[in-house]
Amino acid sequence: MKEKEKSILKTLTLCKSHQSRWQMHIFPLLISSILSSLFFLFLSYSSSCPSSSSSSSSSSSSPSSLTLSLSAAARTDPCSGRYLYVYDLPDKFNDGIVRDCHAIFPWVDMCPYVANMGLGPHLNETGSVLTGTGWHITNQWVLEVIFHNRIRQYECLTANSSQADAFFVPYYVGLDTGRNLWRHNISMQERDSLLVELIQFLKSRPEWSAKGGRDHFILSGRATWDLQRKDDGHSQWGSKLLMLPEVKNMTVLLIEANAWARNEFAIPYPTNFHPSKESQVVEWLDKVRSTNRPWLFSFAGARRPGQADSIRDQLFDQCLKSTHCKLLDCASAGNNCDIPATTMSLFQSSNFCLQPTGDTPTRRSAFDSMLAGCIPVFFTPHSAYTQYKWYLPNNYSEYSVYIPEDEIREGRVSIEEVLLKYSEEEIRNMKEKVVSLIPTLIYKDPSYKLESVRDAFDVAIDGVLVRVKSIVGD
Ligand SMILES: *[C@@H]1O[C@H](CO)[C@@H](O)[C@H](O)[C@H]1NC(C)=O
Ligand SMILES: *[C@@H]1O[C@H](CO)[C@@H](O)[C@H](O)[C@H]1NC(C)=O
Ligand SMILES: *[C@@H]1O[C@H](CO)[C@@H](O)[C@H](O)[C@H]1NC(C)=O
Ligand SMILES: *[C@@H]1O[C@H](CO)[C@@H](O)[C@H](O)[C@H]1NC(C)=O
Ligand SMILES: *[C@@H]1O[C@H](CO)[C@@H](O)[C@H](O)[C@H]1NC(C)=O
Repeated sequence: MKEKEKSILKTLTLCKSHQSRWQMHIFPLLISSILSSLFFLFLSYSSSCPSSSSSSSSSSSSPSSLTLSLSAAARTDPCSGRYLYVYDLPDKFNDGIVRDCHAIFPWVDMCPYVANMGLGPHLNETGSVLTGTGWHITNQWVLEVIFHNRIRQYECLTANSSQADAFFVPYYVGLDTGRNLWRHNISMQERDSLLVELIQFLKSRPEWSAKGGRDHFILSGRATWDLQRKDDGHSQWGSKLLMLPEVKNMTVLLIEANAWARNEFAIPYPTNFHPSKESQVVEWLDKVRSTNRPWLFSFAGARRPGQADSIRDQLFDQCLKSTHCKLLDCASAGNNCDIPATTMSLFQSSNFCLQPTGDTPTRRSAFDSMLAGCIPVFFTPHSAYTQYKWYLPNNYSEYSVYIPEDEIREGRVSIEEVLLKYSEEEIRNMKEKVVSLIPTLIYKDPSYKLESVRDAFDVAIDGVLVRVKSIVGD
């Protein structure tokens, strides 16, 4: 730690003009041992020492000594390079959708799930599986609400658009698209009406014209596959958001991105853990590090009888045959996989968790299992490796196992045999890697300021700022 601190302070002074931009991340990191693995993030940013903007030119008087002078830092603007402008859109684009929550899905009442800033109902009885506080029943489609509430608390908001480094457009596109997916009696024009109105609104604004929207970003709590409608044919699925030329200029954050689209970036699905205090995070990491894991591997899910190319039947069969595997059949009466403790209990008692594709390449369960410190086993690179690049190590062998789908489908590989080859030490190292990722895979409770923990939101904002800077230039 000592050596790391020194090298960071050294890097800081090497990037003098840039120091104020990152200090808000660095100092909490120095004192927070649980986040030590995130140092590479800082180092990778600082290594390029981006040229300073005019607003930070006063920092040329920064100290050249190894220690950072606080008075000098205070003179420069800590928000420089990190200012966000959040559009104040008419209610119907966001809060209005939440208020009309009964209409979001025809078969689930979403009202409890959009409550509490999108975190959903508080879990009062966490039992022995979860730690005491910080847990909710969070629905997988509500990230737009959580993220909007987080950004409302962001420390570098500006109402002055010429000061802004990036512009957030808080339209709840996933919720809007979701509620229209099942309304077969309304026309395409009606389905698209909010989106069309939004684009017209943006294009009329000077904030948009300044850079053609290339410094704008938007977030979807639904996967990319629901937002790629190609034409207005009545049987076509989803929204055409991602097909619009204006949106192609923007940065789009999604729970699942198209790896080939240059403007799409995947950010984690929301899980049920939303800490408000650092101690909650520490307590949880301690728990998942020390928990006893009697099962080598496990699978929680349902068969997909209607999907011929699904490998879930093979996973069921392999798991049932193995004495090292624990199966939780979510389709079976009596197994309620929607109750957080049910699946978390399984993931906590297993070293490896099988994560095949669902309706889309990624399942939210992949994030739930990592949150439980369970090493994910993926069957296609698109479940994680080609997507969550801001969040997961490039070298996927450090934290996961990859078994190609075809090998399973054609019966050429035994999952049990593959996993039994890992030594205890290898499992311990991979598990520790997974645990070290947890803070950046969760979304903190938006009602609290918890600056010592860098979460998925913080990583996303930094990712957006770096990308916008790279495509817009100075
Ligand atoms: C937990 O308690 C609060 C306050 O009594 C209540 O509003 C909430 O619905 C409870 N959560 C669950 C999951 O029952
Ligand atoms: C807006 O920001 C610009 C650039 O930082 C600055 O020059 C200008 O004075 C600001 N305007 C207001 C009204 O604060
Ligand atoms: C479409 O159907 C829903 C219920 O199935 C109904 O509430 C709504 O009024 C209908 N809309 C139109 C435009 O007919
Ligand atoms: C996209 O950005 C470019 C470059 O600023 C601009 O010329 C173009 O008009 C923008 N496209 C749209 C649809 O706004
Ligand atoms: C990737 O990680 C694995 C497991 O830690 C390691 O054995 C391998 O050498 C790494 N590969 C590269 C290219 O760093």
